Amino acid sequence: MIPKAHKAQLKQMGLPSDTDTIRRARMFMMESGTTSGEFAEMARVNPNSLRVFLSGSYDAHKPCDTNTLVMRASIKEAIDLHEAKNRGRRDNTHYTTAEFEELRASMIDALEDGSAIAIEGGVGIGKSWALQKVTDEINQRKLGRAIYVYCLRGITPQSFLISCCIQAKIPSRGTILQLLQKLSYFFEEEHPLLVLDEAQNLPDVTLETLRSLFDLRGYGIVLAASYDLLSHLREYKMQMWSSRIGRTHLLAGATKEEAARMLVGELGPMDKRDIDDTLADVTLEAIREGVKYKYIALRNLFWAIKAARKAVAAAEQREEAIA
Ligand SMILES: Nc1ncnc2c1ncn2[C@@H]1O[C@H](COP(=O)(O)OP(=O)(O)OP(=O)(O)O)[C@@H](O)[C@H]1O
Ligand SMILES: [Mg+2]
Repeated sequence: MIPKAHKAQLKQMGLPSDTDTIRRARMFMMESGTTSGEFAEMARVNPNSLRVFLSGSYDAHKPCDTNTLVMRASIKEAIDLHEAKNRGRRDNTHYTTAEFEELRASMIDALEDGSAIAIEGGVGIGKSWALQKVTDEINQRKLGRAIYVYCLRGITPQSFLISCCIQAKIPSRGTILQLLQKLSYFFEEEHPLLVLDEAQNLPDVTLETLRSLFDLRGYGIVLAASYDLLSHLREYKMQMWSSRIGRTHLLAGATKEEAARMLVGELGPMDKRDIDDTLADVTLEAIREGVKYKYIALRNLFWAIKAARKAVAAAEQREEAIA
């Protein structure tokens, strides 16, 4: 369970709503055959609280918009982590966007120069997808060695380095110094790039350990977050980091034209009004440095596509049954 002390941060994060989270959790449990008890264990939440939340009545007695924050964040973390581990299996078609191409170019620069970049963008905007796509491309084309790591909240330096070694498929036991030594030794001949998703979860002490990979071992670093990362790195005590960040990407998300291309690419020709309505439905609002902004959430867009496909299939079945 994510500590309650982080509620203020979670509130800023613009987490998906109760309805969206319940839908995502139910879809995950249905597709994977996971029971609610097992899912509670995965998400590290109380099984009874999870059942109440999934039934939609969590807020029934204490209506309050912060009530379900911890539950929503825990569910999101568990499913994200599973998807990160199993990526490739459920790949849909990749659609490029101008922003994706910019990120890709920056990541390859960071790899080649051993520099650091920071990325911040709202929930479901397409960060993890982009980071994983480029990581895979770098490794497949042997441009260097990219290591994608999903950062768990509050992860200690040692657990973080173990995760890096596991993702890099090198031996992963030992003290902090031994782990650092391995991460250096095994990639001596290659350009290594650490791609850190959900980097807002890294505590300062782990960021310090990361800095030693950057400063002493020539690693390129990608720090990606949904919220709060850039403002944190600008704080006085973190200046050694902000001075090292070469490029910053504040994501605005896919444009309407790009998202419309995805819709039509998946569902075929559509009425302009239907496209506009769908894009309005999947436009979310988040807060960056105290300022509200809107963006197209690609996760919600691909949910809408899935739902539309199911509706068409059900209608076809009904027609066949009548015929
Ligand atoms: N360029 C793309 N082409 C096709 N599908 C995409 C693309 N970008 C994102 N998606 C779809 O949108 C989903 C959500 O994207 P992603 O997981 O990258 O969001 P995110 O920004 O990491 O969200 P969060 O902040 O919740 O972690 C992906 O699982 C994928 O199905
Ligand atoms: Mg993500």
